[in-house]
Amino acid sequence: MIKNVPPMGWNSWNTFAENINEELILSSADTLIASGLKDAGYEYVVIDDCWALRERSKEGKLVPDPAKFPHGMKYVADYLHARGLKLGMYSCAGLMTCASYPSSYNHEFVDAATFAEWGVDFLKYDYCFKPRSVEGKNLYRRMGLALAGCGRDILFSACSWGADETHTWIGSTGANMWRSTGDIVDTWDSIKELIQKQYTILPYGGVGCFNDMDMLVVGMHGKGHVGLKGCTEEEYRLHFAAWCLLASPLMIGCDIRKMDEATKRILTDPVLIGIQQDPRGVRPYLLKMWENDDLPVFVRALDGGDLAVGFFNLGDAPASLWVTTDDLGIPEIAGLRLVGKAAYTGEELVSKNGVLACDLAAHSCAVYRFRAVKK
Ligand code: GLA
Repeated sequence: MIKNVPPMGWNSWNTFAENINEELILSSADTLIASGLKDAGYEYVVIDDCWALRERSKEGKLVPDPAKFPHGMKYVADYLHARGLKLGMYSCAGLMTCASYPSSYNHEFVDAATFAEWGVDFLKYDYCFKPRSVEGKNLYRRMGLALAGCGRDILFSACSWGADETHTWIGSTGANMWRSTGDIVDTWDSIKELIQKQYTILPYGGVGCFNDMDMLVVGMHGKGHVGLKGCTEEEYRLHFAAWCLLASPLMIGCDIRKMDEATKRILTDPVLIGIQQDPRGVRPYLLKMWENDDLPVFVRALDGGDLAVGFFNLGDAPASLWVTTDDLGIPEIAGLRLVGKAAYTGEELVSKNGVLACDLAAHSCAVYRFRAVKK
């Protein structure tokens, strides 16, 4: 059965776009294992757009491009499965994929059956070239039905970018996660924008259908397809912390075969992954905003009564933020104080007189896992 936590893995698009092939996919899978990323929870290897031939076979099936995938997709799936990993693939609900390859429009059932035959475990389903005559929700419901009936557990990753009020209908399609925003690029502005877009749509995510804030750019440093300017280490730390605290799926987008130690430390932070993978699956929320929408505080109630609290400074100047334990659901009269461990540094933060406070440099955050203990 598909686990009821937001999935973790690696996706080919952010760095490689159309430059994909079997060697890249298998060597990235090997790296997931050798680097310890698999042990940290990253298990899906997702082949994004551009894997197919431009034409279907005579039988009407999608065909992997033999120049890129000479042994076909079953071979790739078997390789991954033998190593405890899972295969993700990509198709589109519209007339063509976003990069103009064949899509699954009007072929939903045959394609779901083909994916099942190949041993696919995850389908990212895009939204480009939607025909005007059909509603988007209908197209996602079709694929939801096709996957549910295909005889294999295939995680349904909807990718309609929040368009056409996705949040109002996505839960009815059977999707396990939904892209809640447009495409990420490797810049600070993009990260900030995607976080701020969550303020109003967080209430639509959670167990069953997680808000997908898009693939990670951590460690891209301006290289690859969505590389652009790149971000600072501190900005990558904030990016990863926000995705974890807001329970987004975590799909690494950098070339992990070349990742540096700092990138690996961010991607494997145990406090943050523990929050993102929390088995209780309670929906995170925006607790308050300081002064303006650059200073949000997000909270997630965790298994065992713990609380994840994240103070974020998305602004360009230093800021001091605080919340009371009462704000977090623990009134003074309860006689409890909060003792927290910080992501990345492991530093302790303890509530004093019912207040939790922290100072933040520009573009930085502090995320803690708190436990309530008797005073
Ligand atoms: C869209 C998606 C991206 C990626 C590309 C592939 O833009 O949102 O994540 O899959 O298509 O063409």
